[in-house]
Amino acid sequence: MTQILIVESSPREADSASRQLTDRLRRRLEQQYPTANVIVRDLAKAPPLYLDAVTLKAISSKDTMEAAALKDAADVSDRLVDEVMTSDILIISSPMWNFGIPASLKAWIDHVVRAGKTFNYAGAGVEGLATGKRAFLLLASGGVFSEGPWKPWDFVEPYLRQILGFIGISDVQTVRAEGMNIPALAPDAVANGERVIEALAL
Ligand SMILES: Cc1cc2nc3c(=O)[nH]c(=O)nc-3n(C[C@H](O)[C@H](O)[C@H](O)COP(=O)(O)O)c2cc1C
Repeated sequence: MTQILIVESSPREADSASRQLTDRLRRRLEQQYPTANVIVRDLAKAPPLYLDAVTLKAISSKDTMEAAALKDAADVSDRLVDEVMTSDILIISSPMWNFGIPASLKAWIDHVVRAGKTFNYAGAGVEGLATGKRAFLLLASGGVFSEGPWKPWDFVEPYLRQILGFIGISDVQTVRAEGMNIPALAPDAVANGERVIEALAL
């Protein structure tokens, strides 16, 4: 059975452009894979803990973890990793905040990009372990970053692609709702993204 993991990060609920793109892509994927198991990891409603001393020890320790606190901390991270590793399709839906991603999404990344779980050190380099998966980036921004003078300011798409590639996911498609804060573009921004979603080869 196909498993789809949806990672949401905008707190704007129904007003969120990135969430509207998610809804459209989810509907298309559910038509394509009617029996799919869909997991929604809503980081805006339940942000993962930042990596503190206990969590860091728990997820990097090679020793058998006996202390209950360590085990609990590792369980949280393990669950997030498992959701990635058991999914065939990963959707990351993100607003652009200060030219990057929201802190909750960064916290999720810090849990799931884990040596021995989603990547391994291999000689002088690394080997991604989350192979055989596809990913979609659904991105909303106030300005325009797919082209033009602000393109170099986009630390969302290049970063997310780099991170996904690092753990072994290179089949990545991006859909944008951009120009949300530009009066001439805002009214069509989500609809433009939705059109791209309708045309995606799934
Ligand atoms: C805290 C914050 C920071 C933002 N920073 C940027 C930015 O750096 N560049 C930009 O183009 N838009 C920026 N915006 C606008 C959002 O990207 C835009 O409203 C987008 O629609 C948010 O996605 P959402 O609708 O899914 O929440 C920012 C918005 C907020 C709330």
